[in-house]
Amino acid sequence: MWVPQISESHQPMYLTIADALARDIASGTLRRGERLPTLRELAQALDVTPGTISRAYMEASRRGLTHGEVGRGTYVLDRIGEKPQQPVVDRSPAAHAQRAEELDLSIIKPYGDTLQYWLRNALVELAGAEHLEQALDYPPDGGHPAHREAGAQWLRHWLPGAQWQQVVITSGAQHGLMVALSAMTEAGDLVLCESLCYPGIISAAHGLGRRLRGVPMDEQGIIPEALREICQRERPAMLVCVATCQNPTTAIMSNARRAQIAALAEEFDFLLLDDDIYGFLATDADTRPLSTFAPERSIYLTSLSKSVAPALRTGYLYSPARMLSRLTSMVRSTVWMPSPLTAQLASQVINQGLDGQLIRLHRAEAAARQAIAREVLGDAVRAQPYSYHIWLNLPEQWRSDEFALLARANGVIVMSASQFQVERGDDPRGVRVVLMSPTSREELRFALTRLASLLESGDPKRFY
Ligand SMILES: Cc1ncc(COP(=O)(O)O)c(C=O)c1O
Repeated sequence: MWVPQISESHQPMYLTIADALARDIASGTLRRGERLPTLRELAQALDVTPGTISRAYMEASRRGLTHGEVGRGTYVLDRIGEKPQQPVVDRSPAAHAQRAEELDLSIIKPYGDTLQYWLRNALVELAGAEHLEQALDYPPDGGHPAHREAGAQWLRHWLPGAQWQQVVITSGAQHGLMVALSAMTEAGDLVLCESLCYPGIISAAHGLGRRLRGVPMDEQGIIPEALREICQRERPAMLVCVATCQNPTTAIMSNARRAQIAALAEEFDFLLLDDDIYGFLATDADTRPLSTFAPERSIYLTSLSKSVAPALRTGYLYSPARMLSRLTSMVRSTVWMPSPLTAQLASQVINQGLDGQLIRLHRAEAAARQAIAREVLGDAVRAQPYSYHIWLNLPEQWRSDEFALLARANGVIVMSASQFQVERGDDPRGVRVVLMSPTSREELRFALTRLASLLESGDPKRFY
């Protein structure tokens, strides 16, 4: 059995093992086609966890040294520097479509065909526009009024009566999060969010030196009683909440729950940052944004990344008038101005009514993909009828990280629960699976079938 010589190193153990593997292939100690020890065998020999070996093998596969299939073992591909006999992993969409070897179900984004068609037309139109001055110059604070008016028009889908004067243009929702957090809270402040939450919230809060705490959740998201308990002990400055199609659990809060959360914000005097980036995917038309229940202490946040295209980097904050100058000056401090050229493109989509068409298209595509997920994965799926992603509950014998690692070794990339955990704690036993990222429904079915067979195999130890 191959057991590498491990020299002392400051890098993570899995990289040291991958380096040793590369060295032994280069020296001829390991030959092409040779089967490597199982995760369990090598873990025992090196006195590390099977997870470390799994990561080392994945790294080796990424470097084009090995290939492996769940249940069949990992094999040496070829000598370093020589062209591998088999292509390793071609990440181009064309290769995915043909072979569906490695499928990335980890990024929440809109499905692409119609977007490319729209974008080409919009760019041609932009090039021919008579008055491009506003897209080429430094705009006033908050963005050019015409772009803010288009933003207000978009927001009126959910915030009837939205005024352009209260709209602040940002470079996407992540930038909006940073702006709102840094403008409205201070270093050391307690900021609350869902106990499993979008990693961008975690990194933004930590990066800004805020103390971040996760609030326990149920199938509707944040539990009001749990929030009250925290507020009785400590003084949060802000709650960041994704109330519709929560990332990662897909939870949607009822209007009654939203009213309870807003009432707690009033009672305990904290601000609400209502991240409604998935608001257009709500199941019921009468779902109201959280911020509308406490408009004077709420900032509404969204972007066009999930509904039009991530590359536009156009987002909108909607805030009470008294917060505007702090928000706009933070936009200035961070990026000076979001690109007015892309804000112009975004405005075109909205002004031509394409936003409504895109929403309908995306909801229909998401619903069709949800049906496939239920058909292939059955009861383990937790989702909403129009959400882009699902939460896959794992049986007891699986750990989330282990499942995500083995899924990847089997060509499907999903995100493990641990990547969303605000604080270390029990493993929630789940992974987030994005349904909209594969370019076709066939590819999605193929990838989900791989996940299903991993689950059906029952015992993860079988793979070690
Ligand atoms: C809940 C949530 N908020 C914000 C963002 C960031 O979006 P954007 O690409 O517009 O920065 C994401 C992206 O996945 C998200 O899921």
